[in-house]
Amino acid sequence: MATAKSQIAKTKNKKFKGTKRDTFKSMVDILLGLQWGDEGKGKIVDVLAPKYNVVARFQGGPNAGHTLEFDGMKHVLHQIPSGVFREDCMNVIGNGVVLDPVIFKKEVESLTEKFKMDLTKNLVISTKTAIIIPTHRMMDAAQEKAKGDAKIGSTLKGIGPTYTDKVSRHGLRLGDILSDKFQEKYEAVKARHLQWLSFLEYTPEGLEEAEAIFFAACDFLKSFKLAETEYLVNKELAKGNSVLAEGAQGSLLDIDFGSYPFVTSSSTTAAGVCSGLGVAPNKIGEVYGIFKAYCTRVGSGPFPTELFDNTGEEMRREGNEFGATTGRPRRCGWLDLPALKYTVMLNGVTQLVMMKADVLNIFENLEVCTAYKLPNGEVTEEMPYDICDTEVTPIYTTVKGWNCSLEGITDFDKLPQELKDYVAYIEEQVGVPIKFVSTSPDRTATIAR
Ligand code: IMP
Repeated sequence: MATAKSQIAKTKNKKFKGTKRDTFKSMVDILLGLQWGDEGKGKIVDVLAPKYNVVARFQGGPNAGHTLEFDGMKHVLHQIPSGVFREDCMNVIGNGVVLDPVIFKKEVESLTEKFKMDLTKNLVISTKTAIIIPTHRMMDAAQEKAKGDAKIGSTLKGIGPTYTDKVSRHGLRLGDILSDKFQEKYEAVKARHLQWLSFLEYTPEGLEEAEAIFFAACDFLKSFKLAETEYLVNKELAKGNSVLAEGAQGSLLDIDFGSYPFVTSSSTTAAGVCSGLGVAPNKIGEVYGIFKAYCTRVGSGPFPTELFDNTGEEMRREGNEFGATTGRPRRCGWLDLPALKYTVMLNGVTQLVMMKADVLNIFENLEVCTAYKLPNGEVTEEMPYDICDTEVTPIYTTVKGWNCSLEGITDFDKLPQELKDYVAYIEEQVGVPIKFVSTSPDRTATIAR
């Protein structure tokens, strides 16, 4: 019989497979936005995708619009991971996502028609993914209307109400569409929504028609691979395959750390990858943080460096700053370093990617916000808790612009000195290297260092 002592010795010697970082053959790298979304994540996932066996979405839903441009073509993805354009890449929609079956069907049909893709082969969707039903969209509209001037500026895709149902444990999950109780479950959720809509005095017009389209889209989804993707992703890692987690929206729209309540309803930071895909924190590798050389925001909420003058107008025009999902004009402003340092900290960013440097080509000088002045005169480099109610005044440093075209430059050393100085200044301030600089929307215009 083993004594207590020998038992302890045995336990000490036992190798605990999978509990130490060095026992993993491979890690999950993360790519996410460090500002208020629209940083150009789609383009960079597409550039990085060849390095990865799996590209996975872990949060958000059809509120996202990831634009990819290549071979003179432009395509916007909303729910489907950006790895679909690379052969041999498995694409995963994780449990942390909220999926609209109707928008999914349209996206798939458009990809099939344009690119002759068969997505039933290289796309796997989690059975635990929350589903957006027609009344969720109506609730989004009703709630925004009820908020009046305090509205969030939601994309009205039903994101908030769907996450609310998930958290309050009333929601529907993708796996439910396979059950013969689906209709029953759906009716129960719808009945609750209708009560709420009636309370908000919102008439659910066109519901029957929307429901017919919704159920047809649910049937369409049945031909795709639905699985417990947490097993799949972990098995891929165990095999030594690499996974890229593709973030949506931006860190400043995070439900916990964004400018609440003007945020989205999911965890957009690196922490969301663990819960949104089912991977442990010790499996996270590189964190690529994407930011624009300036700032934009779509929807309501604080934006300290926002420009209301001609300069802001020029940025919008040069950067074609109109929402990929809603077409709304984006608010534009100078780079905000306190905000960038905050999101680099929250995400543990290991490599930075600077997007849309070319949009600043037209300016002789650039302003960079280095701190905020509070109404009481105090100066801070941190994001104030009450930024939604407190008017902060940005403190700017002026840096020299490059004021020339970047077209055709493929080598970092050949970039204008002023742009290299801008890059060096940001790196010094933030403490993380900028590894890629993007100089136009095309896949090829990404300068690696
Ligand atoms: P919702 O997620 O549609 O409810 O929108 C909440 C806020 O996040 C609004 O201000 C939206 O404009 C913003 N938002 C949501 N998704 C995106 C995105 O993909 N890019 C930029 N802003 C977004």
